[in-house]
Amino acid sequence: MRTNTTLVINPKGGSGKSTVATNLASYFAVNGTPTALMDYDPQGSCMNWLRLRPAHAAKIHAANAAPQKSGLRSIGMHVPQTTQQLIIDAPAGVSGLLLQELLSRTHCIIIPVAPSSIDIHATANFIRDLLLTGKIRANNIRLGVVANRVRKSTPVYQPLERFLASLNLPLLARLADSDVFLNAAEAGVGIFELDFAVSAPERQQFMPVVEWVDRLPVVPATRPVPAMALASRPGLRVIGNGTSSHPGLR
Ligand SMILES: Nc1ncnc2c1ncn2[C@@H]1O[C@H](COP(=O)(O)OP(=O)(O)O)[C@@H](O)[C@H]1O
Ligand SMILES: [Mg+2]
Repeated sequence: MRTNTTLVINPKGGSGKSTVATNLASYFAVNGTPTALMDYDPQGSCMNWLRLRPAHAAKIHAANAAPQKSGLRSIGMHVPQTTQQLIIDAPAGVSGLLLQELLSRTHCIIIPVAPSSIDIHATANFIRDLLLTGKIRANNIRLGVVANRVRKSTPVYQPLERFLASLNLPLLARLADSDVFLNAAEAGVGIFELDFAVSAPERQQFMPVVEWVDRLPVVPATRPVPAMALASRPGLRVIGNGTSSHPGLR
């Protein structure tokens, strides 16, 4: 079985990358899936979270990919071959060669967005740039967005929704601005490891993210679609809303 690699990325800090990455890893680990969490961020939020993890908690392999003081990449970025779900936490503002490196090993990209118009604008530009690299399409990478820290009646997301719809990209979930995420982070656990009674709404909000990442790739049609037919369908999947074919993903 191949490793399914999910990259959590956004050009802005504080958008919820580490929150989404740690909760995804925790969900898979709790469910008995061999899971690794790779931290590319020099701030090391995911590595800190793993250090806080209680001894009895489900095992998550720590892979530290942040540059070290020596300028070299850590030897700790190794991931066991048995890993089924690899979650990568990207640093803010990643671009250039590092972005290429990340895209070359990724099957799914999750982009969490905080509810500020500046963040939403930066995210839309980032998605545009990502698509322009051609890697998303060439590597058949699935891409989804998560609205994070949503408060009741947050119309600020409407332009983002329109932008995503125009590119046929899914808004996977809306995560509430909730102390439950903070409390879990401080205890080195995910929301799925907290008492159900205190975390039910957050679990429900997060589940579509898990299901999207865990979705088996749709087997591509055996008969190739004529090029003319593709060219005449402008709305055809660029990266897909989760229904994209993803041959050989795992
Ligand atoms: N949905 C949320 N509700 C409450 N706090 C959140 C939520 N998402 C993130 N946070 C908190 O906001 C801060 C920034 O989130 P983080 O995931 O570290 O962002 P990033 O990794 O993109 O910099 C952290 O303290 C985190 O616990
Ligand atoms: Mg972070």
